[in-house]
Amino acid sequence: MKKKKVDLHPGWRPNTRTVHSGEHGIKYADALTVPIVQTSTYVFHTTDEIKRYTSKRLIRYEYARYGNPTQEAAEKKLANLEGAENCLIFDSGMSAITTTLLALLNRGDHMILTDDAYAQTLKFCTRHLPRFGIDFTVTKMGDYGQLERSIRKSTRIIFSESPTNPYLNIIDLERMLKIRKKYQGLMIIDSTFATPYNQRPLEWGMDLVIHSATKYLAGHNDILAGAVLGRHQLIDPIKDYQHSTGSVIDPHCCYLLLRGLKTAALRVAYQNRSAQKVAEFLEGHSKIRRVFYPGLPSHPHHQIAKSQMHGFGGVVSFWVKGNLKRVNKFLDSLQWIYIAPSLGGVESLITHPATVTYYRITRQERYALGITDQLVRLAVGIEDPEDITADLDQALGKMDK
Ligand SMILES: Cc1ncc(COP(=O)(O)O)c(C=O)c1O
Repeated sequence: MKKKKVDLHPGWRPNTRTVHSGEHGIKYADALTVPIVQTSTYVFHTTDEIKRYTSKRLIRYEYARYGNPTQEAAEKKLANLEGAENCLIFDSGMSAITTTLLALLNRGDHMILTDDAYAQTLKFCTRHLPRFGIDFTVTKMGDYGQLERSIRKSTRIIFSESPTNPYLNIIDLERMLKIRKKYQGLMIIDSTFATPYNQRPLEWGMDLVIHSATKYLAGHNDILAGAVLGRHQLIDPIKDYQHSTGSVIDPHCCYLLLRGLKTAALRVAYQNRSAQKVAEFLEGHSKIRRVFYPGLPSHPHHQIAKSQMHGFGGVVSFWVKGNLKRVNKFLDSLQWIYIAPSLGGVESLITHPATVTYYRITRQERYALGITDQLVRLAVGIEDPEDITADLDQALGKMDK
Protein backbone atom coordinates (compact mmCIF):
# COMPACT_ATOMS: atom_id res chain seq x y z
CA MET A 1 0.00 0.00 0.00
CA LYS A 2 1.27 3.49 -0.89
CA LYS A 3 1.98 5.74 2.06
CA LYS A 4 -0.20 8.85 2.13
CA LYS A 5 2.14 11.79 2.47
CA VAL A 6 1.15 14.84 4.49
CA ASP A 7 2.17 18.38 3.65
CA LEU A 8 2.09 19.66 7.19
CA HIS A 9 1.89 17.92 10.51
CA PRO A 10 0.91 20.24 13.37
CA GLY A 11 3.62 18.84 15.63
CA TRP A 12 6.50 19.28 13.20
CA ARG A 13 9.49 21.27 14.41
CA PRO A 14 11.41 23.70 12.15
CA ASN A 15 13.85 21.27 10.49
CA THR A 16 11.12 18.75 9.65
CA ARG A 17 8.92 21.54 8.33
CA THR A 18 11.62 22.94 6.07
CA VAL A 19 12.35 19.50 4.59
CA HIS A 20 8.84 18.07 4.21
CA SER A 21 6.16 20.76 4.05
CA GLY A 22 4.71 21.62 0.65
CA GLU A 23 6.46 18.71 -1.07
CA HIS A 24 3.62 16.41 -1.97
CA GLY A 25 2.10 17.93 -5.11
CA ILE A 26 2.65 16.82 -8.72
CA LYS A 27 5.72 14.60 -9.17
CA TYR A 28 6.93 12.74 -12.23
CA ALA A 29 7.88 9.02 -12.23
CA ASP A 30 7.77 8.73 -8.44
CA ALA A 31 10.66 11.18 -8.16
CA LEU A 32 11.50 12.21 -4.62
CA THR A 33 12.08 15.85 -5.48
CA VAL A 34 9.61 18.37 -6.88
CA PRO A 35 10.26 18.68 -10.63
CA ILE A 36 11.15 21.87 -12.47
CA VAL A 37 8.08 22.28 -14.66
CA GLN A 38 9.77 24.37 -17.34
CA THR A 39 6.84 25.37 -19.49
CA SER A 40 5.19 28.61 -20.49
CA THR A 41 1.78 27.04 -21.17
CA TYR A 42 -0.35 23.97 -20.36
CA VAL A 43 -2.28 21.79 -22.82
CA PHE A 44 -6.06 21.37 -22.79
CA HIS A 45 -7.00 17.96 -24.15
CA THR A 46 -10.58 18.77 -25.11
CA THR A 47 -12.83 21.80 -25.40
CA ASP A 48 -14.90 20.28 -22.60
CA GLU A 49 -11.83 20.58 -20.36
CA ILE A 50 -11.66 24.29 -21.21
CA LYS A 51 -15.32 24.68 -20.27
CA ARG A 52 -14.89 22.88 -16.97
CA TYR A 53 -11.79 24.95 -16.21
CA THR A 54 -13.34 28.33 -17.01
CA SER A 55 -16.47 27.50 -15.01
CA LYS A 56 -14.18 26.57 -12.06
CA ARG A 57 -15.34 22.93 -12.04
CA LEU A 58 -11.79 21.86 -12.86
CA ILE A 59 -8.73 23.19 -11.05
CA ARG A 60 -5.68 23.02 -13.31
CA TYR A 61 -2.95 25.17 -14.85
CA GLU A 62 -3.52 27.42 -17.84
CA TYR A 63 -0.54 29.68 -18.55
CA ALA A 64 2.72 30.06 -16.64
CA ARG A 65 2.12 33.69 -15.60
CA TYR A 66 -0.88 32.43 -13.60
CA GLY A 67 0.79 29.51 -11.87
CA ASN A 68 3.33 26.70 -12.00
CA PRO A 69 3.62 23.48 -9.94
CA THR A 70 7.23 24.17 -8.88
CA GLN A 71 6.21 27.64 -7.74
CA GLU A 72 3.21 26.28 -5.86
CA ALA A 73 5.34 23.76 -3.98
CA ALA A 74 7.68 26.56 -2.85
CA GLU A 75 4.68 28.73 -1.90
CA LYS A 76 3.14 25.96 0.20
CA LYS A 77 6.42 25.27 1.97
CA LEU A 78 7.02 28.92 2.75
CA ALA A 79 3.41 29.43 3.91
CA ASN A 80 3.83 26.49 6.28
CA LEU A 81 7.08 27.91 7.66
CA GLU A 82 5.61 31.36 8.22
CA GLY A 83 2.29 30.08 9.59
CA ALA A 84 0.42 31.86 6.80
CA GLU A 85 -2.79 30.90 5.00
CA ASN A 86 -1.30 31.79 1.67
CA CYS A 87 1.96 32.78 -0.01
CA LEU A 88 2.79 34.35 -3.33
CA ILE A 89 6.28 34.19 -4.80
CA PHE A 90 7.87 36.81 -7.07
CA ASP A 91 10.99 37.21 -9.16
CA SER A 92 12.66 39.43 -6.52
CA GLY A 93 12.07 40.95 -3.11
CA MET A 94 11.50 44.35 -4.70
CA SER A 95 8.85 42.80 -6.97
CA ALA A 96 7.10 41.44 -3.88
CA ILE A 97 7.17 44.89 -2.24
CA THR A 98 6.18 47.00 -5.25
CA THR A 99 3.49 44.61 -6.50
CA THR A 100 1.96 44.32 -3.02
CA LEU A 101 1.87 48.10 -2.49
CA LEU A 102 0.51 48.87 -5.93
CA ALA A 103 -2.13 46.14 -5.62
CA LEU A 104 -3.40 47.36 -2.26
CA LEU A 105 -3.10 51.16 -2.52
CA ASN A 106 -5.33 53.50 -4.52
CA ARG A 107 -5.13 57.15 -5.56
CA GLY A 108 -5.74 59.32 -2.48
CA ASP A 109 -4.48 56.69 -0.04
CA HIS A 110 -1.75 57.35 2.49
CA MET A 111 1.03 55.04 3.65
CA ILE A 112 3.50 55.17 6.55
CA LEU A 113 7.01 53.79 6.28
CA THR A 114 9.63 53.62 9.01
CA ASP A 115 12.86 55.36 8.04
CA ASP A 116 15.51 52.69 8.65
CA ALA A 117 14.46 50.80 5.53
CA TYR A 118 16.15 49.26 2.52
CA ALA A 119 17.20 52.08 0.16
CA GLN A 120 15.14 50.88 -2.82
CA THR A 121 12.00 50.47 -0.70
CA LEU A 122 12.41 54.04 0.55
CA LYS A 123 13.05 55.24 -2.99
CA PHE A 124 9.98 53.46 -4.37
CA CYS A 125 7.71 54.92 -1.69
CA THR A 126 9.06 58.44 -1.77
CA ARG A 127 9.70 58.82 -5.49
CA HIS A 128 7.25 56.55 -7.27
CA LEU A 129 4.10 56.18 -5.13
CA PRO A 130 3.34 59.93 -5.37
CA ARG A 131 3.22 59.53 -9.18
CA PHE A 132 0.08 57.41 -8.61
CA GLY A 133 -1.48 59.95 -6.23
CA ILE A 134 -0.47 58.01 -3.13
CA ASP A 135 0.84 60.05 -0.23
CA PHE A 136 3.32 58.76 2.32
CA THR A 137 4.95 59.71 5.62
CA VAL A 138 8.34 58.46 6.76
CA THR A 139 8.52 58.11 10.55
CA LYS A 140 11.48 57.48 12.79
CA MET A 141 11.98 53.78 13.49
CA GLY A 142 11.06 53.16 17.13
CA ASP A 143 9.09 56.43 17.56
CA TYR A 144 5.63 54.94 18.09
CA GLY A 145 4.17 58.31 19.14
CA GLN A 146 5.17 59.86 15.81
CA LEU A 147 3.83 56.80 14.02
CA GLU A 148 0.42 57.07 15.73
CA ARG A 149 0.27 60.81 15.12
CA SER A 150 0.98 60.24 11.43
CA ILE A 151 -2.07 58.01 10.95
CA ARG A 152 -4.79 59.69 8.90
CA LYS A 153 -8.27 58.61 7.82
CA SER A 154 -6.73 57.74 4.46
CA THR A 155 -3.86 55.65 5.89
CA ARG A 156 -4.09 52.19 4.36
CA ILE A 157 -0.68 50.70 5.09
CA ILE A 158 1.98 50.92 7.79
CA PHE A 159 5.16 49.28 6.53
CA SER A 160 8.30 48.47 8.47
CA GLU A 161 11.26 46.18 8.26
CA SER A 162 12.35 44.21 11.29
CA PRO A 163 15.24 43.76 11.83
CA THR A 164 16.08 46.78 9.71
CA ASN A 165 18.83 47.23 7.21
CA PRO A 166 21.57 48.12 8.14
CA TYR A 167 21.18 49.00 11.86
CA LEU A 168 19.18 45.89 12.81
CA ASN A 169 16.58 47.86 14.71
CA ILE A 170 13.66 45.78 15.90
CA ILE A 171 10.07 46.92 15.69
CA ASP A 172 8.07 46.19 18.84
CA LEU A 173 5.34 43.90 17.48
CA GLU A 174 3.27 44.14 20.67
CA ARG A 175 3.15 47.94 20.38
CA MET A 176 2.42 47.67 16.69
CA LEU A 177 -0.51 45.37 17.43
CA LYS A 178 -1.93 47.96 19.87
CA ILE A 179 -1.71 50.59 17.13
CA ARG A 180 -3.11 48.08 14.61
CA LYS A 181 -6.25 47.71 16.71
CA LYS A 182 -6.93 51.46 16.57
CA TYR A 183 -6.77 51.89 12.83
CA GLN A 184 -8.49 50.43 9.77
CA GLY A 185 -5.50 49.80 7.56
CA LEU A 186 -2.91 47.06 7.24
CA MET A 187 0.45 46.42 8.87
CA ILE A 188 3.15 44.94 6.69
CA ILE A 189 6.50 43.68 8.00
CA ASP A 190 9.49 43.06 5.75
CA SER A 191 10.94 40.16 7.73
CA THR A 192 13.82 39.40 5.34
CA PHE A 193 16.56 39.74 7.99
CA ALA A 194 14.69 37.50 10.43
CA THR A 195 13.29 34.61 8.33
CA PRO A 196 10.33 32.60 9.63
CA TYR A 197 12.76 30.65 11.78
CA ASN A 198 13.58 33.69 13.92
CA GLN A 199 10.36 35.70 13.79
CA ARG A 200 6.74 35.14 12.72
CA PRO A 201 4.97 38.53 12.61
CA LEU A 202 1.61 37.07 11.50
CA GLU A 203 1.37 35.36 14.89
CA TRP A 204 1.70 38.83 16.45
CA GLY A 205 -1.32 40.10 14.54
CA MET A 206 0.45 41.69 11.59
CA ASP A 207 -1.41 41.47 8.27
CA LEU A 208 1.27 40.66 5.73
CA VAL A 209 4.88 39.53 5.81
CA ILE A 210 7.30 40.19 2.98
CA HIS A 211 10.62 38.49 2.31
CA SER A 212 13.43 39.05 -0.07
CA ALA A 213 13.79 35.28 -0.57
CA THR A 214 17.05 36.08 -2.35
CA LYS A 215 18.61 36.11 1.11
CA TYR A 216 18.27 33.40 3.81
CA LEU A 217 15.34 31.54 2.26
CA ALA A 218 17.14 30.63 -0.98
CA GLY A 219 20.37 30.89 0.96
CA HIS A 220 23.07 30.34 -1.67
CA ASN A 221 23.65 33.78 -3.21
CA ASP A 222 22.54 32.44 -6.59
CA ILE A 223 18.99 33.64 -7.31
CA LEU A 224 16.63 36.58 -6.84
CA ALA A 225 13.21 35.86 -5.36
CA GLY A 226 10.59 37.47 -3.16
CA ALA A 227 7.45 36.50 -1.27
CA VAL A 228 4.40 37.98 0.38
CA LEU A 229 2.43 35.98 2.95
CA GLY A 230 -0.85 36.42 4.75
CA ARG A 231 -4.60 35.75 4.58
CA HIS A 232 -6.19 34.56 1.31
CA GLN A 233 -8.35 37.69 1.31
CA LEU A 234 -5.22 39.88 1.01
CA ILE A 235 -3.05 37.61 -1.13
CA ASP A 236 -5.75 36.99 -3.79
CA PRO A 237 -5.89 40.62 -5.02
CA ILE A 238 -2.08 40.80 -5.05
CA LYS A 239 -1.99 37.61 -7.14
CA ASP A 240 -4.57 39.06 -9.50
CA TYR A 241 -2.43 42.19 -9.89
CA GLN A 242 0.68 40.05 -10.43
CA HIS A 243 -1.14 38.42 -13.37
CA SER A 244 -1.10 41.87 -15.00
CA THR A 245 2.35 43.05 -13.93
CA GLY A 246 3.97 39.73 -14.86
CA SER A 247 6.40 39.90 -11.94
CA VAL A 248 6.56 36.10 -11.81
CA ILE A 249 9.44 33.83 -10.94
CA ASP A 250 11.00 31.38 -13.37
CA PRO A 251 10.43 27.64 -12.50
CA HIS A 252 14.15 26.92 -12.34
CA CYS A 253 14.70 29.72 -9.79
CA CYS A 254 11.72 28.34 -7.90
CA TYR A 255 13.36 24.94 -7.73
CA LEU A 256 16.52 26.55 -6.32
CA LEU A 257 14.40 28.39 -3.76
CA LEU A 258 12.66 25.15 -2.80
CA ARG A 259 15.99 23.41 -2.45
CA GLY A 260 17.38 26.27 -0.37
CA LEU A 261 14.33 26.27 1.89
CA LYS A 262 14.98 22.65 2.85
CA THR A 263 18.11 23.68 4.76
CA ALA A 264 16.91 27.13 5.89
CA ALA A 265 16.30 26.16 9.53
CA LEU A 266 19.71 24.47 9.80
CA ARG A 267 21.53 27.37 8.17
CA VAL A 268 19.76 30.12 10.09
CA ALA A 269 20.25 28.41 13.46
CA TYR A 270 23.98 28.11 12.70
CA GLN A 271 24.22 31.68 11.38
CA ASN A 272 22.48 32.97 14.53
CA ARG A 273 25.16 31.34 16.67
CA SER A 274 28.07 32.42 14.46
CA ALA A 275 26.87 36.03 14.18
CA GLN A 276 26.61 36.24 17.98
CA LYS A 277 30.25 35.10 18.28
CA VAL A 278 31.40 37.51 15.57
CA ALA A 279 29.48 40.41 17.17
CA GLU A 280 31.03 39.69 20.58
CA PHE A 281 34.49 39.49 19.01
CA LEU A 282 34.02 42.83 17.24
CA GLU A 283 32.59 44.51 20.35
CA GLY A 284 35.79 43.69 22.20
CA HIS A 285 38.11 44.84 19.40
CA SER A 286 40.18 48.01 19.87
CA LYS A 287 39.74 49.09 16.20
CA ILE A 288 35.94 49.03 16.38
CA ARG A 289 33.93 52.00 17.67
CA ARG A 290 30.51 50.37 17.97
CA VAL A 291 28.74 47.14 17.05
CA PHE A 292 25.05 46.81 16.14
CA TYR A 293 23.67 43.33 16.70
CA PRO A 294 20.32 42.62 18.41
CA GLY A 295 21.86 39.70 20.29
CA LEU A 296 24.19 42.07 22.18
CA PRO A 297 22.90 43.66 25.41
CA SER A 298 24.34 46.96 24.07
CA HIS A 299 21.87 46.99 21.16
CA PRO A 300 19.03 49.46 21.90
CA HIS A 301 16.41 46.84 20.99
CA HIS A 302 17.99 43.79 22.61
CA GLN A 303 15.11 43.28 25.06
CA ILE A 304 12.44 43.61 22.35
CA ALA A 305 14.36 41.17 20.17
CA LYS A 306 14.63 38.72 23.05
CA SER A 307 10.91 38.86 23.68
CA GLN A 308 9.71 38.31 20.12
CA MET A 309 12.50 36.55 18.21
CA HIS A 310 13.75 33.00 18.31
CA GLY A 311 17.23 34.08 17.18
CA PHE A 312 18.95 37.37 16.33
CA GLY A 313 19.95 36.69 12.72
CA GLY A 314 23.17 36.53 10.77
CA VAL A 315 23.94 40.20 10.08
CA VAL A 316 26.30 42.29 12.18
CA SER A 317 26.85 46.00 11.46
CA PHE A 318 29.67 48.03 12.98
CA TRP A 319 31.53 51.32 12.93
CA VAL A 320 35.22 51.04 12.31
CA LYS A 321 37.39 53.64 14.08
CA GLY A 322 38.83 56.13 11.59
CA ASN A 323 38.18 57.67 8.22
CA LEU A 324 37.12 56.27 4.84
CA LYS A 325 40.74 55.57 3.89
CA ARG A 326 41.18 53.30 6.91
CA VAL A 327 37.84 51.57 6.27
CA ASN A 328 38.91 50.89 2.68
CA LYS A 329 42.25 49.53 3.88
CA PHE A 330 40.40 47.17 6.22
CA LEU A 331 38.09 45.94 3.46
CA ASP A 332 40.92 45.54 0.95
CA SER A 333 42.95 43.56 3.50
CA LEU A 334 40.33 40.82 3.96
CA GLN A 335 41.76 37.58 2.65
CA TRP A 336 38.65 35.62 1.76
CA ILE A 337 35.51 37.34 3.04
CA TYR A 338 33.95 38.67 -0.16
CA ILE A 339 33.18 42.36 -0.56
CA ALA A 340 29.66 42.24 -1.96
CA PRO A 341 26.17 43.47 -1.20
CA SER A 342 23.44 41.00 -0.12
CA LEU A 343 23.18 38.66 2.84
CA GLY A 344 21.76 35.37 3.99
CA GLY A 345 23.79 33.06 1.77
CA VAL A 346 26.35 30.42 2.65
CA GLU A 347 29.27 32.76 1.89
CA SER A 348 30.08 35.59 4.31
CA LEU A 349 29.73 38.93 2.55
CA ILE A 350 30.89 42.31 3.74
CA THR A 351 29.62 45.59 2.39
CA HIS A 352 30.21 49.28 2.86
CA PRO A 353 26.71 50.77 2.59
CA ALA A 354 27.96 54.36 1.98
CA THR A 355 29.79 53.43 -1.21
CA VAL A 356 27.66 50.51 -2.40
CA THR A 357 23.94 50.79 -1.60
CA TYR A 358 23.81 54.56 -0.97
CA TYR A 359 26.29 55.93 -3.50
CA ARG A 360 23.47 57.44 -5.59
CA ILE A 361 22.55 60.03 -2.91
CA THR A 362 24.54 62.95 -1.49
CA ARG A 363 26.77 62.63 1.56
CA GLN A 364 24.39 64.88 3.50
CA GLU A 365 21.41 62.65 2.66
CA ARG A 366 23.41 59.56 3.58
CA TYR A 367 24.43 60.95 6.94
CA ALA A 368 20.82 61.93 7.68
CA LEU A 369 19.99 58.23 7.28
CA GLY A 370 22.90 57.25 9.54
CA ILE A 371 24.93 55.84 6.65
CA THR A 372 28.33 57.09 7.75
CA ASP A 373 31.68 56.39 6.08
CA GLN A 374 32.63 54.20 9.08
CA LEU A 375 29.63 51.87 8.79
CA VAL A 376 30.33 48.33 7.62
CA ARG A 377 27.78 45.50 7.36
CA LEU A 378 28.85 41.89 7.62
CA ALA A 379 26.51 39.10 6.55
CA VAL A 380 27.80 36.03 8.31
CA GLY A 381 27.79 32.90 6.13
CA ILE A 382 28.07 29.28 7.19
CA GLU A 383 31.86 29.19 7.43
CA ASP A 384 33.34 28.45 10.87
CA PRO A 385 33.01 31.58 13.01
CA GLU A 386 36.63 31.26 14.18
CA ASP A 387 37.78 31.60 10.56
CA ILE A 388 35.56 34.62 10.05
CA THR A 389 36.91 36.41 13.13
CA ALA A 390 40.48 35.49 12.13
CA ASP A 391 40.05 37.14 8.71
CA LEU A 392 38.44 40.23 10.28
CA ASP A 393 41.18 40.43 12.90
CA GLN A 394 44.10 40.28 10.46
CA ALA A 395 42.42 42.89 8.19
CA LEU A 396 41.74 45.24 11.12
CA GLY A 397 45.40 44.84 12.08
CA LYS A 398 46.48 46.07 8.64
CA MET A 399 44.34 49.23 8.73
CA ASP A 400 47.19 51.51 9.81
CA LYS A 401 49.99 49.91 7.81
C1 LIG B 1 15.15 44.18 3.82
C2 LIG B 1 15.15 44.02 2.34
N1 LIG B 1 13.98 43.99 1.70
C3 LIG B 1 13.93 43.85 0.35
C4 LIG B 1 15.08 43.77 -0.41
C5 LIG B 1 14.98 43.62 -1.88
O1 LIG B 1 15.13 42.29 -2.25
P1 LIG B 1 15.68 41.81 -3.66
O2 LIG B 1 17.10 42.21 -3.78
O3 LIG B 1 15.45 40.34 -3.64
O4 LIG B 1 14.84 42.49 -4.69
C6 LIG B 1 16.31 43.80 0.24
C7 LIG B 1 17.55 43.71 -0.54
O5 LIG B 1 18.65 43.78 -0.04
C8 LIG B 1 16.35 43.94 1.64
O6 LIG B 1 17.52 44.00 2.31
